[in-house]
Amino acid sequence: MGSESASRRVLSGMRPTGRLHLGHYHGVLKNWIALQHEYECFYLVADWHALTTGYGDTRQIEQHSFDMLVDWLAAGVNPAAAAIFIQSKVPEHAELHLLLSMVTPVSWLERAPSYKDMQARLNDRELATYGFLGYPVLQAADILIYRAGNVPVGADQVAHVELSREIARRFNHLFGSEPGFEEHCQAAIRKMGRKAARLYGSLRRAYVERGDGEALERGRALLAEQQNLSIGDRERLFGYLEGGGRIILPEPQALLTEQAKVPGLDGEKMSKSYNNTIELREPLPAMERKVQAMRTDPARKRRQDPGDPAKCPVFDLHKIYSEASTLKWAADGCRSAGIGCLDCKKPLIEAIAAEQSVMTERGKPFEEQPDLVHRILQEGAERAREAARETLDEVRASIGIAHK
Ligand code: TRP
Ligand code: SF4
Repeated sequence: MGSESASRRVLSGMRPTGRLHLGHYHGVLKNWIALQHEYECFYLVADWHALTTGYGDTRQIEQHSFDMLVDWLAAGVNPAAAAIFIQSKVPEHAELHLLLSMVTPVSWLERAPSYKDMQARLNDRELATYGFLGYPVLQAADILIYRAGNVPVGADQVAHVELSREIARRFNHLFGSEPGFEEHCQAAIRKMGRKAARLYGSLRRAYVERGDGEALERGRALLAEQQNLSIGDRERLFGYLEGGGRIILPEPQALLTEQAKVPGLDGEKMSKSYNNTIELREPLPAMERKVQAMRTDPARKRRQDPGDPAKCPVFDLHKIYSEASTLKWAADGCRSAGIGCLDCKKPLIEAIAAEQSVMTERGKPFEEQPDLVHRILQEGAERAREAARETLDEVRASIGIAHK
């Protein structure tokens, strides 16, 4: 991750699909966990998003939310560091969604890749609804209401983050010019202290007058490290630095894990709908049986047939779990038929088991005392609402409906 945004906030979410699997862990959750101590993180259960496609049967949403939350906590998402909450408990998201919907062209939503895809895939449901069309607007509201710069997601969500950027840009363009902008900026610059103020001024001129991109980067870094600026002032100065108006809703960017896709038991991408998953906190014997039955290079029909690790999903899992020496042992043994597939799978099973046992232990108290989870959610929602309200106040004011 070399290109994080200057914003110190992170937001991400998942629809409540119930128990999670290794694909979720290595594809997204690990990233959430890595970010939580360095950034101010907000992680939400997107129950409204679940409704956009699942309004016809809502019986499982609460149970699925709980199961998923226990998996987050078991995997190491830490409620002391990150705010963990349910989307629908922060109604401010709905207000921002409404306001963003005023400026979002329908054509942007119709050409979102997930729109036609999902309608085709879930063709037993009526998805020509207002709510489903607005799925990405709701997601944009989730992100923008925290002014989150970074959004750790799986590859399937990148298009949604891109659309959030476009919506933010349009919003800023429409509402970012406030009366007295220049004066506000000058006052904010003075708050930085003389030295930083002078540097800011020269970096701004270097960018606005000469298009010096490096000066822009340095200016952004300078603003990011200022302690005396309110969020509003900081966003003004970000906009002013670029020669534009005020940035009310900063553009977020997606953060992807470096992890190659996690293969499922059949070699396809691991996914609940393919029924090829290893769950987090799966009981040891079940996990063991699954890996033992996992597909290997079809060339190795018999023990003495050599194989090619590049054609084997087990080897892809090894790449996630095993050190270089084990990888070499497996690859050499595969090509020379020096080891059998069950031998090869053994250290892999051990590595997964070690990871699983930590998660099982960590998850236990939450599973046994659901109230612990409820308390975490309540506290998370309070933290989230505080941050959300601050943005909404500015959003209303910038639109001109503060009515104060
Ligand atoms: N759409 C995401 C998914 O299906 C879930 C989600 C909702 C989300 N709001 C978000 C992800 C905001 C990132 C940021 O997984
Ligand atoms: Fe796959 Fe290992 Fe068997 Fe080779 S030896 S086919 S890498 S499981």
